[in-house]
Amino acid sequence: MNFLSIIEKKKHNIELSENEVLFLVNGFLTNKIKDYQMSSFLMAVYFKGMTTNELYYLTKAMINSGSTYTLEGVEGPLADKHSTGGVGDKTSLIYGPLVAKYGVKVAKISGRGLGKTGGTIDKLESCTGWNSQLSENQFIESVNKVGISIIGQSKNIVPADKILYSLRDVTGTVDSIPLIASSIMSKKLAIRTSSIILDVKVGKGAFMQTIDEAMELANAMVEIGALFKRDVSVILTNMNYPLGSCIGNALEVKEAWNTLNGKGTSDLIELTTLAAAITLLDNKIFENLDIAIKALKNTLKDGSASKFLKDFIENQSGDFNKILNYEKNFTTKYEHKVYAQNSGYLEFNSDNFGFLSMNLGAGREHKDDVIDFSAGIVLNKSHSEYVKNGDLLFTMFTNKDDEQSFREYATKCYYIKDKPNNEKLILKVISKNYNL
Ligand code: URA
Repeated sequence: MNFLSIIEKKKHNIELSENEVLFLVNGFLTNKIKDYQMSSFLMAVYFKGMTTNELYYLTKAMINSGSTYTLEGVEGPLADKHSTGGVGDKTSLIYGPLVAKYGVKVAKISGRGLGKTGGTIDKLESCTGWNSQLSENQFIESVNKVGISIIGQSKNIVPADKILYSLRDVTGTVDSIPLIASSIMSKKLAIRTSSIILDVKVGKGAFMQTIDEAMELANAMVEIGALFKRDVSVILTNMNYPLGSCIGNALEVKEAWNTLNGKGTSDLIELTTLAAAITLLDNKIFENLDIAIKALKNTLKDGSASKFLKDFIENQSGDFNKILNYEKNFTTKYEHKVYAQNSGYLEFNSDNFGFLSMNLGAGREHKDDVIDFSAGIVLNKSHSEYVKNGDLLFTMFTNKDDEQSFREYATKCYYIKDKPNNEKLILKVISKNYNL
């Protein structure tokens, strides 16, 4: 077998065999296939796509490139959730406690933020001492003890994805649907859980710009799940505007805590209760989606799931008191307020909010940048809301001395229009138990 014959086949749309795909993935891992060769293969996939068989072979080869977690010692149903990445997306921190409260445990591998999107691991690290590196045994123990455990991606799990993603990042091949689908699903399937729910973001702050593209990605991931005999539910959600009212690391943990204590924004409540309800249906805790959502909304109101967030963070050595005494622990040198210059309906741009938050210090432009946990943005008004001239729209928190450039960037984050932009948050649901 040689690389040239494989690339010739891909160029001419001839389906690759399992051995050929394995040869590519293993060859790249062991440096027998070079970056320039793999780049040409990735670009050929970008233009030619992949058949269902090829998707299966690629995902399988990626999973088998490292260790898998069977999590056999976990008692009871076990859920996993993944978001394709958004601005202000702290859903997992609310979803986890909600489903744990109903007896479904959560075991999840999360990532760090890069560019405009935040990452769950960074958010949790704002609770000083929080440890994302657990062995499989510690992971199992934590899940059994508190009902939730989240860990960072390790070198051992799906190592092929790590090196392939780095190459895609610099060769213009990130936004290929089969490559995204196999990358996400290899990481989901490397952990044995009883349900998987994926939140595919669509719009300005997301990888997928249109519903059609997002549907194609969602279907590819459901198909991969089915090939591995795993049920996958997908929610397509609008990312044209940020989720909730906070963007930033400690700010988002605090918002998750507030939401779990009955003080959440309506969009965050809608998304977290829907995602949790689907998981509870998938694990047969409820049979009817509306009844599950109603119960979960009551749980948010009565605050009874919030202890799961605190316990989970403290169990992984994080100092949750930092969040409970937020004002004392996360002050910033500056608080720049942005006011409306005229009256009308507010329209937010999540893409620009993501970059603004990164510039304020809450995100990384490059992989090795250090995050400022206290930096970020608080939205004082919501998307589509009617505002009057002079109203406070949002507040920027930062320790950096660059007010003028922050203010210039802030003007790109919103528009004030004559009509409200009442876009829906939930665009589509694909699930064997419920369809929208
Ligand atoms: N998230 C992933 O894990 N992989 C991709 O390719 C894109 C988003």
